Amino acid sequence: ISLQPFNTFGVEANSKYFAEINSVEELIETLKLPNAQTDKLLFLGGGSNILLTKDFDGLAIKLSLKGIDEKIIDDNHVLVTAKAGENWHQFVMYCLSKNYGGLENLSLIPGNVGTSPMQNIGAYGTEIKDVFETCQVLNLETLEIETFDLEKCRFGYRDSIFKQEGKGKYVILEVSFRLTTKTHKVNVEYGAIKSELEHLGVDNPTIQDVSKAVINIRQSKLPDPKVTGNAGSFFKNPTIPLAQFENLKEKFNNIPGYPNGNFVKVPAGWLIEQTGWKGRQTGNVATNKLQALVIINATGKATGKEIFDFSTEIINSVKEKFGIELEREVNIM
Ligand code: EPU
Repeated sequence: ISLQPFNTFGVEANSKYFAEINSVEELIETLKLPNAQTDKLLFLGGGSNILLTKDFDGLAIKLSLKGIDEKIIDDNHVLVTAKAGENWHQFVMYCLSKNYGGLENLSLIPGNVGTSPMQNIGAYGTEIKDVFETCQVLNLETLEIETFDLEKCRFGYRDSIFKQEGKGKYVILEVSFRLTTKTHKVNVEYGAIKSELEHLGVDNPTIQDVSKAVINIRQSKLPDPKVTGNAGSFFKNPTIPLAQFENLKEKFNNIPGYPNGNFVKVPAGWLIEQTGWKGRQTGNVATNKLQALVIINATGKATGKEIFDFSTEIINSVKEKFGIELEREVNIM
């Protein structure tokens, strides 16, 4: 079956077997089938963080578990639990419609709830770890359900246990968030949010205003995957030692960087732009004109291999000019 509808790059790739799953019971039954060998499973969420570079010789499983549940915790908090197959942005909009605060900065991020803990999705000064309570996972070895709390998830920048030791070992079934119900704490520290709120003429922003601002910013520079295939940021922002940053600063005096202890995080978008790759197209692939960190399927006809090779050329250029090795954020299959 064609996996084109299940990846936001919109690239063509086939999987030998395919199953769409609507409940935990269905998932467990499917995993007991002879076709479901653990080393030949591909789990598909929203398909917004994967690049399919070849056909898949195994069983692709589309996780479509749906449902949202709520439990009041105290005077000012609610625990909201969403199943893995809920669309992330629709879930954020649902929370905002009920005036639950904490996820507003994460509006319009593509993908599903179930993949949000994988890379600790983050934007505009907020990461899901800030409001994450627990997630329920299925252990693929034992087929038992386990609960992971914040500590066990080991969240980092675009990172979690699910990308490290836990890689390929668990399927996330649902995620619970601790959100505010009355007194909200908006996070408008990010420069772009501040200026967008000013532009909207808002002084005392509500969580809904912050969401609106984030949506406007994202729509102004990130391509809509429904129109142009992409997977958001293709690379991580690299973190380099302070000494290396200071050396670079002598040569490139306007290099931006966000210090963090003895390290500095450098925006990959800037590095890519400086090497001349911003907006450049090769064959069917290009970087986004307004945000060089996003690689796009420019013609809609790109293959995964073409996109992968394009990204390798960018890595080489950045390495050559700055001595920094960019790391792909998108999962490569
Ligand atoms: N920049 C350039 N040229 C570019 C792009 C960016 O010079 O082509 C510079 C900007 O001028 C700015 C800096 O890089 O000084 C940062 O840019 P931006 O605010 O757009 O954020 P980013 O670091 O490029 C990260 C996330 C985004 C997230 C934004 C906002 C990563 C890998 N990406 O991008 O996440 O929306 O911050 O918080 O950390 C995603 O993961 O798919 C994603 C879009």
